[in-house]
Amino acid sequence: MISRAKGEPVELVEVVIPDPGPGEVVVDVIACGVCHTDLTYREGGINDEFPFLLGHEAAGTVESVGAGVTNVEPGDFVILNWRAVCGQCRACKRGRPHLCFDTYNAEQPMTLTDGTALTAALGIGAFADKTLVHEGQCTKVDPAADPAVAGLLGCGVMAGIGAAINTGAINRDDTVAVIGCGGVGDAAIAGAALVGARRIIAVDTDNKKLDWARGFGATHTINAGELDPVATIQDLTDGFGADVVIDAVGRPETWKQAFYARDLAGTVVLVGVPTPDMTLEMPLIDFFSRGGSLKSSWYGDCLPERDFPTLISLYLQGRLPLERFVSERIGLEDIESAFHKMHAGEVLRSVVIL
Ligand SMILES: NC(=O)c1ccc[n+]([C@@H]2O[C@H](COP(=O)([O-])OP(=O)(O)OC[C@H]3O[C@@H](n4cnc5c(N)ncnc54)[C@H](O)[C@@H]3O)[C@@H](O)[C@H]2O)c1
Ligand SMILES: [Zn+2]
Ligand SMILES: [Zn+2]
Repeated sequence: MISRAKGEPVELVEVVIPDPGPGEVVVDVIACGVCHTDLTYREGGINDEFPFLLGHEAAGTVESVGAGVTNVEPGDFVILNWRAVCGQCRACKRGRPHLCFDTYNAEQPMTLTDGTALTAALGIGAFADKTLVHEGQCTKVDPAADPAVAGLLGCGVMAGIGAAINTGAINRDDTVAVIGCGGVGDAAIAGAALVGARRIIAVDTDNKKLDWARGFGATHTINAGELDPVATIQDLTDGFGADVVIDAVGRPETWKQAFYARDLAGTVVLVGVPTPDMTLEMPLIDFFSRGGSLKSSWYGDCLPERDFPTLISLYLQGRLPLERFVSERIGLEDIESAFHKMHAGEVLRSVVIL
């Protein structure tokens, strides 16, 4: 499924997948979630390197491997990731590979039948029967996992869980508030519950989302259209504010709420993605007088090789309800309508089954 031009509906076309070159792998895609980022690509919000081959929250089976591939072999069940770390850049060498700024993708392009090169969304391009990726983009996990569920760890769900447990370093006994309970916010709630947070406060403007948030482990909910989130979070945390507040919306007003709703010296994690025109104006003294830490979280500061197998194992043990993120299973031809449902807030994730 490709996006040929800015704002145009997606199109189902024939795609040519080259044989895997050195370090490359062809994956037979089984399932791929529909993420907001796919829509952002279609709207020209990422870059203008059209046409895009969309889809990036995927799981599948390794079909063939190129020369020198040792990480996976044909038949392996894998989740695709967009953080195949290089091991060589300054961040990797300083022991911070989750900040790697030279991650690997396949070198050869996938193309249209006329030879036009496609840009794969996040270097993956998995709204297709098969896709070509770098071997480091394939993380082997337990094949007992439902592929529709497993694939979601490849982006939004990992971003949310990681924002909570990697970036926010939430721990047993912490109080937590999560602003925005879409797929990413609910994943943050599930992550906070997993590590034993004492109180988990979900904030959204939509009561349906707040109901779903309870299913992921929220202990309290606040409708931000009816109550002031800052005062209510403080009330629910004995007047202190939450130890960790996660902004999974990514707007100046929600970030300010997160900032003021945290405990003195607490942590704010920004995982929602602001648009480039958004700015923040606040008294600088408020930063100084509160201390604590203000963080952003890209892809939940995850390391796929470390985090995916563990989270799949916890899901298979029934300790992490990842299956709740799958709102519906659809065909490739339903992606455009899935974008509309996403926009209307009717789904957490629509998952394309291939
Ligand atoms: N940092 C990363 O690596 C990363 C990865 C994936 C997605 N994201 C970002 O995370 C954000 C959330 O993604 P999602 O898939 O959950 O989106 P979503 O649209 O499903 O969820 C957003 C939620 O926020 C709620 N909301 C909107 N305005 C609000 C307000 N003022 N107060 C409270 N709630 C409000 C909506 O009702 C909705 O439930 C997006 O910005 C997305 O781009 C970040
Ligand atoms: Zn690196
Ligand atoms: Zn995504």
